[in-house]
Amino acid sequence: KKKITKICCIGAGYVGGPTMAVIAQKCPHIQVTVVDINQARIDAWNDENLENLPVYEPDLDQVVAEARGRNLFFSTEVDTVIKEAEMVFISVNTPTKTYGEGKGQAADLKWIELCARQIAAASDSDKIVVEKSTLPVRTAEAVKDILRNTGGGVKFQILSNPEFLAEGTAVEDLQQADRVLIGGENSPEGKEAIQALVDIYAHWIPREKILTTNVWSSELSKLTANAVLAQRVSSINSLSELCEATEADIDEVSRAIGADSRIGKKFLKASVGFGGSCFQKDILNLVYISRSYGLTEVADYWEQVIKMNDHQKGRFAKKIIKSLYNTVSGKKIAFLGWAFKKDTNDTRESAAIYVADHLLNEKAIISVYDPKVKEKQIQFDLNCLQTRSEEENRSLVNVEVDPYEVCKDSHAVAILTEWDEFKTYDWQKIYDSMLKPAQVFDGRNILDHEALRKIGFRVYAIGKS
Ligand code: NAI
Repeated sequence: KKKITKICCIGAGYVGGPTMAVIAQKCPHIQVTVVDINQARIDAWNDENLENLPVYEPDLDQVVAEARGRNLFFSTEVDTVIKEAEMVFISVNTPTKTYGEGKGQAADLKWIELCARQIAAASDSDKIVVEKSTLPVRTAEAVKDILRNTGGGVKFQILSNPEFLAEGTAVEDLQQADRVLIGGENSPEGKEAIQALVDIYAHWIPREKILTTNVWSSELSKLTANAVLAQRVSSINSLSELCEATEADIDEVSRAIGADSRIGKKFLKASVGFGGSCFQKDILNLVYISRSYGLTEVADYWEQVIKMNDHQKGRFAKKIIKSLYNTVSGKKIAFLGWAFKKDTNDTRESAAIYVADHLLNEKAIISVYDPKVKEKQIQFDLNCLQTRSEEENRSLVNVEVDPYEVCKDSHAVAILTEWDEFKTYDWQKIYDSMLKPAQVFDGRNILDHEALRKIGFRVYAIGKS
């Protein structure tokens, strides 16, 4: 029976970092080394000051503090670490392709292929290669082909072990996973590899929550779990617009729908739209895969989830403009929140970016406060859109470390992220410092709207009239 003593994880990002930290915490007898080609990122993981870890997640600092230097290591020595490991996780990014065939939809597997080639070149003993990244169904086929043809006689088993953690609750999700999914080959060697990974998770995950499947089911389950989650958000968001037109209240509708035990209450909160690096990318990928098999209706069905989300972001921006008398040119608008959700410093595909872009096209002046996102990241996100020059973004968008400064002299405050601290602000003080009529656009429905109206605010909330 194979016993794993050394693990290597390629990719020290939002998934690789927290996942390996928890494996190291729960399995002190296994040496876990996370490698990355990004030196700055590795340095940040090794920083003595835990505030500087590159990923912000509640309690992640404690897990890292417990395991780092004991059996958790971060390194840029990719080849050496691969060579010594019995099990290699691939946790690199798999963004949407920005060029060529499948541009804007298909997953870019360049980094995955590079990893496979690197593993093959660095290996001089048998290894289990684990796909942790979210990959299109049948990617393991390509990985296997590369490993077997370039690996020089070394034997590789490929497993699919998609990660279901959600940012903002990564540590909790990892420590108390709903399920762990492991896909592998239905051969004696395949089963042995599956068992080796099951044994690792079994240190803290109840055995009945560890599901084993064939590789293809495992790969496809991750894409489709994200598609179904995003679909719930788009469903409730589509109903929020109908609520605004009919004087129904989306929170009441959501509670009523969610009380049905067949539906359940989670993921039915209306908002300015979903963001994050995964939902959009994975659905686009699902759409692309479906189309490539000629399944037009299936592709169109899932594509609508994205269209609805784009509509919701645009609708929010338009609402702000309309309420500000159809002109925001030269007006200061305060943004509370930039991260795509609370308790993370990740801003990828955040709704805030698109709402800001829309308002900037109308020449608004935007002032941003987010408790965990730095100015550099915010400018970077806007520059990535290539809608206007970097100088223009710098002159129209300013970032403050004090929320009250951000709101001062603004015409409107927009809530873009559901950070808890926003609820505890002195809203009277904010009101007093703003231009009148002072308006609040609650894109997350987290504030006490009645109290705000009492102060004198005009309040717009999603799905309420
Ligand atoms: P990320 O972009 O934060 O991290 C990826 C890291 O891989 C980067 O630091 C990059 O420098 C490194 N890398 C790329 N190529 C490399 C190579 N050849 N050698 C060494 N390092 C290399 O990405 P993130 O968010 O961690 O996502 C990774 C995968 O996990 C993606 O496939 C994603 O879809 C999936 N996933 C993400 C979740 C999330 O919440 N972010 C949740 C579940 C799955």
